Amino acid sequence: MATTLDQRARPLRDLRISVTDRCNFRCSYCMPKELFGRDFAFLPRAELLSFEEIVRLSRLFVEEGVTKVRLTGGEPLLRRDLERLVEMLARLDGITDIALTTNGSMLAAKARALADAGLTRVTVSLDALDDEVFGAMNDVGFPVARVLAGIDAAADAGLTPVKVNMVVRRGVNDHCLLEMAERFRCRGHVLRFIEFMDVGTTNDWTLEDVVPAAEILGTVEARWPLEPQQPNYKGEVATRYRYRDGAGEIGLIASVTQPFCGGCTRARLSADGKLFTCLFARRGHDLRALLRAGMSDLEIAERTREIWTARTDRYSAERAISERAMPERASDGQTIEEPAKVEMSYIGG
Ligand code: GTP
Ligand code: 5AD
Ligand code: SF4
Ligand code: SF4
Repeated sequence: MATTLDQRARPLRDLRISVTDRCNFRCSYCMPKELFGRDFAFLPRAELLSFEEIVRLSRLFVEEGVTKVRLTGGEPLLRRDLERLVEMLARLDGITDIALTTNGSMLAAKARALADAGLTRVTVSLDALDDEVFGAMNDVGFPVARVLAGIDAAADAGLTPVKVNMVVRRGVNDHCLLEMAERFRCRGHVLRFIEFMDVGTTNDWTLEDVVPAAEILGTVEARWPLEPQQPNYKGEVATRYRYRDGAGEIGLIASVTQPFCGGCTRARLSADGKLFTCLFARRGHDLRALLRAGMSDLEIAERTREIWTARTDRYSAERAISERAMPERASDGQTIEEPAKVEMSYIGG
């Protein structure tokens, strides 16, 4: 397997593939209703990569060192026959992990087919257990029970451990931390608390809305003592803790207060085939144009290698530095450029 290193000596290991920019939720921190309304211009079908195109690119990425693929969106289960894509990806040699990040709304019906197709595991987003709080956060009034049914179906289908992502927003759902922890303890699920991030330009992010991971940890720890765990893999996004009473583990994703750019091995492919080397990038590299211009595997592979080799991104680390009021320069003397943003529903979480 090749090890292509970027400018900060980070290998390329994970490919996050967005299969659609559409979603049936309108989470205010991701696709606020006022901006993603009825007349919003989502990508037309012809602009989406076909499954064959996704698989071809994935095969080339595997040759550059990718071992892990995550399907995202928008809501990936809105893409018709997604299990067919999973099956095609599962046939590629070199991929050891095929995961899916979903809002869970359609998971109860699809978990079994996805597992049969070769999906390894799922991560389900769920921000609260109270219908009023959750319904307001997803902003379409989607009921908690149906997401919980999706989580159960995933666990029954062996897509384990099921991870549950909770984006914590101050004053919105930060009173739900213990209730969430209690619900997912002892069940083999891994609840991850995520600091609200400044992705995109539409979610009205302010630092005051962020509940720092240290504060979240303190709240949970005060109720159920915890101890740190080693990461599952180098560059893992979540910091792991296990309950001392043996009830399982939780994760904290502190991309605002403790950025993890140093170990970032992730590339992102948007639904229309643009390659982004950072969640916060302004520009993507159009791989679909290369595919549709009839370029050979060799030529496309060379282009992706060039892109990864030139990569310098570390947006969260730079944001953290600028928040500590060290304006123009990062600690390594590099000039901090004005950060640039695409929406998460487009680029994929
Ligand atoms: P596993 O460790 O493989 O289970 O997955 P993951 O935690 O990388 O994936 P998931 O889709 O569950 O992402 C969890 C949260 O971390 C989401 O809010 C993501 O947007 C965020 N996240 C994932 N990768 C990155 C990253 O490279 N940078 C930043 N800033 N956030 C990320
Ligand atoms: N900050 C943090 N996490 C976010 N997600 C979506 N938008 C944000 C944001 N602004 C989460 C989703 C999903 C994961 C892929 O990213 O809830 O769990
Ligand atoms: Fe949809 Fe996930 Fe964005 Fe919510 S966070 S709007 S479920 S893509
Ligand atoms: Fe990677 Fe960019 Fe996230 Fe840093 S901010 S961890 S470089 S995706």
